[in-house]
This record gives sequence, C-alpha cells and structure tokens, in this order.
Amino acid sequence: MNDQHPSSARATTDLFEAVPAEVSIYEVGPRDGLQNEKAILPTDRKLELIEGVVDAGVRRIEITSFVDPKWIPALADHTEVARGVHRKADVAYSALVPNMRGLDGASRAGMQEVAVFMAASETHNRKNINRSTEEALSTYRVVVDEALARGMRVRGYVSCVYGCPYEGTVALDAVLRVAHGLLELGIYELSLGDTIGVGTPRQIEYVLRGLLRSGIALDRLAVHFHDTRGTALANITVALQLGIRTVDSAIGGLGGCPYAPGASGNVATEDVVYMLQGMGVRTGVDLDRLVAVSAKLSGYLGRELPSKYLKAHLGHCARIGRPV
Ligand code: HMG
Ligand code: MG
Repeated sequence: MNDQHPSSARATTDLFEAVPAEVSIYEVGPRDGLQNEKAILPTDRKLELIEGVVDAGVRRIEITSFVDPKWIPALADHTEVARGVHRKADVAYSALVPNMRGLDGASRAGMQEVAVFMAASETHNRKNINRSTEEALSTYRVVVDEALARGMRVRGYVSCVYGCPYEGTVALDAVLRVAHGLLELGIYELSLGDTIGVGTPRQIEYVLRGLLRSGIALDRLAVHFHDTRGTALANITVALQLGIRTVDSAIGGLGGCPYAPGASGNVATEDVVYMLQGMGVRTGVDLDRLVAVSAKLSGYLGRELPSKYLKAHLGHCARIGRPV
C-alpha cells in the first residue's frame, strides 16, 4: 500500500519539525458517530462498517457503547455488535462504559479494552452522565480498578476541553483537574475532546502546552476534534506540530453528541488521512478502501456525509464515469 502522497515534499523550515513520522488513527465512527444518527443502523450494517474500516487499515476502533439504552437508543445493540465483530489479532477494539454495569456488559461481550468519559465542565457532567465531576471520578476509580484487575486496557476521555454548551469557556484548571484525575486512575491514554467544535489553533496550543507543562507525557494524549465550525484540521495540525501522535476521527465525519446541543460531526477519518498523507505522515490506512466504506455508509444512512474528501472523491468518480 502506498501511504505517501505525491506532494509530500518536506518543507525547508522547521515549522513541522516535531510532526511525528507516524500517527495512530483512533476510529470513533461506530460509537461517537452512530450514537447521534437519526437513522438507527441495523446491527449487521454496523458490523460491516467496523470490518470495512479495519480492512482499510485502521488499527484502533471504538465499536459501541455500554451505556443506558434509554439515553443512547442508537447503540442499544452493543452486546450483539461486540459479540458479532470478527476480530483481528492486531486490532484494538474498544467500547465506552459509564459505570460497573457497563463494564460488566462489555466484559461479558468479550471486550478487552474500554473507555471511560467525563467532561471538564460540571454542568455537562450532570447532563451527560447525571453526576457531578467528583462523583464521576469516584465512580471511575472503581470501574478502572476492576477493568485493570480483569486484564483490560482502559482509555479515558475528557470532553468539553475547549468549551461547553452550557457553561461556555472552560478554564484550563478545570481541564487539568479532570485530566490528572483520570490519568491517576490508570488509564493508558487521555483523549481531549472538543465536543462542540469551538476550539481554534492558538487555544489548542495553549491547552496542550498547559497539559504537557503540568507533567503529562506526550504519548499519553490524543486529540479529538469536532468540525462544527470548520477548525478541526487546523487544530489537528497544531497538535501534530506539538508532537501529538494519536488522532481520533470518525468515518464520513459522522456524529455529534446528544448531550451537547449543536455539536455536529467528528472530524472525518478520510480528511485526516488525506492531510496526513500529504504531509508525509504514515497512518497505515488505505484511502481508496476507506472511502469505499464511507460511500456505502452514506447510502445506508440515506444522507450525504460531511467528509470533504468523500465529496471530492464522489465528484471525481462521477466526472470520469468510474464506480466509487
Ligand atoms: P442514571 O439514570 O443516573 O443511572 O444514568 P443510575 O445508576 O441511577 O441507573 C438508572 C437506570 O439506568 C437504571 O435502570 C439502571 O439499570 C440503568 P432503571 O432502574 O431505570 O430501569 N443503567 C444502565 N442501563 C444500561 N447500561 C448501563 C446502565 N447504567 C445504569 N451501563 C448513566 C447514568 C451514566 C448510566 C446514564 O447517564 C448514561 O448512560 N449516560 C451516557 C450518555 C452518553 O453516552 N452520552 C454520550 C457520550 S459521548 C461523550 O461524552 C463525549 C465523547 O464522545 C468525546 C467527545 O466527543 O468530545 C466521549
Ligand atoms: Mg466526538
């Protein structure tokens, strides 16, 4: 597979000096994407989606969420999805869990990795997980301890890092408190969510430098942007320039957050991979195969997906009369 874009000539300045040679794509479409879709995708199509993304070369993927189906009906089939996926040995499959009940469900369904999640903002925690920030951290202490005792790997999310739909600006101190609180529980990686897509490049630099200065190692951090206001790729570029090596994204640009009004899609995996290839950064993902999966998904969901790369690809195929 050719992972190098023809225009990936190295620049002569040191602007991109810290950009890693390889980036790990963490695919969140089947979870963060589908949780907010109006059309509920049948389980077999979810399995087809997950397997298609993995076949395109993605090695880390969040496949579902063991949360209360009353809160997230679109992922009520979490157990069937987790049990139904044909797993590859070199792929990490993860699922979101909010509490012990979720962890038990995930374990029983054969998950070996789970992710816990909470916001840097107090109000978002109350609306999204019905708990205060302190209560969420105490719940997760028990959940993470138990998951580690069962030999599972645990990832963590802090959402609303750059702004909250209820509180507006979120102070760096609030982000630091939750970030350190989660990392101290024993999660292996912390994903920094711009849940409502309000972040801009200088702010990303400020927050990331603040986290790094507070003693968090670069390889414990991942970035997770929503493209609500069109700033996601610019923000990712800044994160890469600071040396970040893990980027979350969702195929087609699916998603939002049901408890973050106005949050639109996650940054599209195709768009991120295209940009990284152009910068000469390896991802292991085959764009042609990936875009074939998102084109199919768009048909299944009955709507155009936000990915810019997908749109360009479909336009190109139509122009030259080539099948997608
Ligand atoms: P609660 O109602 O406060 O929980 O919900 P509870 O412990 O009091 O239990 C109440 C009921 O829920 C009981 O049922 C429990 O059995 C049931 P009832 O007695 O009413 O019949 N219950 C469960 N059912 C299934 N699975 C479970 C479970 N736990 C309790 N695991 C809870 C608390 C956290 C469960 C609920 O608020 C919830 O499920 N919230 C999840 C909401 C969610 O998934 N939001 C989207 C997450 S995405 C995100 O946060 C951002 C992120 O994507 C990053 C980014 O994009 O920036 C990560
Ligand atoms: Mg998201």
